[in-house]
Amino acid sequence: RILILDFGSQYTQLIARRIREIGVYCEIRSWDLEAEEIRAFAPRGIILAGGPESVPEEGSPRAPELVFELGVPVLGICYGMQTMAAQLGGAVQGSEEREFGYARVDLVGKGRLLDGIEDAVDDHGTLSLDVWMSHGDKVIELPTGFQTLASTPSCAIAAMGDDARNFYGVQFHPEVTHTKQGMRILSRFVLELCGCEALWTPANIVEDAIANIRAQVGDAKVLLGLSGGVDSSVVAAMLHRAIGDQLTCVFVDNGLLRLHEGDQVMAMFAENMGVKVIRADAQDKFLSRLAGVTDPEAKRKIIGRTFIEVFDEEATKLKDVKFLAQGTIYPDVIESAATKNGKAHVIKSHHNVGGLPEEMAFELVEPLRELFKDEVRKIGLELGLPYDMVYRHPFPGPGLGVRILAEVRKEYADILRRADHIFIEELRKADLYHKTSQAFAVFLPIKSVGVVGDARRYEWVIALRAVETIDFMTARWAHLPYEFLEKVSNRIINEISGVSRVTYDISSKPPATIEWE
Ligand code: XMP
Repeated sequence: RILILDFGSQYTQLIARRIREIGVYCEIRSWDLEAEEIRAFAPRGIILAGGPESVPEEGSPRAPELVFELGVPVLGICYGMQTMAAQLGGAVQGSEEREFGYARVDLVGKGRLLDGIEDAVDDHGTLSLDVWMSHGDKVIELPTGFQTLASTPSCAIAAMGDDARNFYGVQFHPEVTHTKQGMRILSRFVLELCGCEALWTPANIVEDAIANIRAQVGDAKVLLGLSGGVDSSVVAAMLHRAIGDQLTCVFVDNGLLRLHEGDQVMAMFAENMGVKVIRADAQDKFLSRLAGVTDPEAKRKIIGRTFIEVFDEEATKLKDVKFLAQGTIYPDVIESAATKNGKAHVIKSHHNVGGLPEEMAFELVEPLRELFKDEVRKIGLELGLPYDMVYRHPFPGPGLGVRILAEVRKEYADILRRADHIFIEELRKADLYHKTSQAFAVFLPIKSVGVVGDARRYEWVIALRAVETIDFMTARWAHLPYEFLEKVSNRIINEISGVSRVTYDISSKPPATIEWE
């Protein structure tokens, strides 16, 4: 396994995902990890990742000296390369100017990291690589034992290596797809130079997780809050395979789910897979608590609190439950941040069910704690969950509650559910569902004028929202075909009485968020 030491760069998670895609297990830890912990981790290789700070600046972070003493290969990327150079006797020059974007680096030296990996050869026989750069500072003097592997006109030492010690540094980012040969470079490092085997596959992950769950749980009973979302569904399938009937799921129907969603969850888990699922029909409770409330944050709080209350009621009825399972995933666990004062590796523990009463002191089972979302999906498929379930769009916890821009009423929720269903159904039919990252309808509590026959009628408005995004932090509205939008609009207006107008949201995030409230 590979240890990735993080200096606070937003790219660090991407490096970890790439290494895992190659089939090698890795973990991200903070740059100031204690020596005993590094030894206990027993890495086959270490990657020093990027960071926002400047190596020449006093007090900027350094890798633990042990990293260079363990005798394992080390790869420094960006800041990681610079601190490696500085710590081993080279020199780094600070700069206010940033080089950002594509660059072509010439492969000027021979070294095992990059040998035989190139994108182009020019007339003089010089090999080059197309890479993605994002840096200000640069290494200007090599440490003893190193040679330059790549350079650009503005960055003479863009990659360096010491084959004797297996220490390497790259100034560019091999983890981003803009660096075309990035995966080959990372594979070269982890598979060939570190000698790791590509054993981190969905089948192996499932097998391991099942053995761990059995060891942890023994013959005790486990409770899981099943939402129908990807993470909790994968946990349910995994626990069911590991411990069968020792697992009980509670599915809370809050009345704010999509059309037929509750029945689908029951059909898939209870009927098809034989998982014990208790369905708590709590629509009335949620709706009565939400009556008269229009403030979005207040709605979110009420929905969250009521969920916990209903879940508790069901959990209390069960006897002898020792464990609570949760769909916590790796990005929830790590929030890597290296700041100036050092110890800033914040561990954020997500408690999806946060307010359980004291007397129900459960131990936690979190079988997805080490996995990225894309790995969770692959494991879902491995466990036999349907593709459409595993690759569905995200759906917020408060559900339709935050897509009704008014007091939540059953009448509004019913209209919205049907409009949303038409939109999603048409997206799937037109093969556009997986080309958008998230799509849904929003209920607007305003009446606009329409004509039916000779009469003027004032009816509700539905807005459609569809976005494309990688990380949900920024998003672009999806450029859906006009004919498609026309069809969806016609169907909604014709099939749902009470709606006479449909609009399409063409705002980007930022500043508009994906949800409307
Ligand atoms: P925004 O609207 O902030 O949404 O651009 C980003 C992503 O987060 C989801 N979202 C939520 N998920 N509870 C959730 O579980 C919430 O209260 C919530 N609000 C937004 C949203 O659907 C999108 O995927």
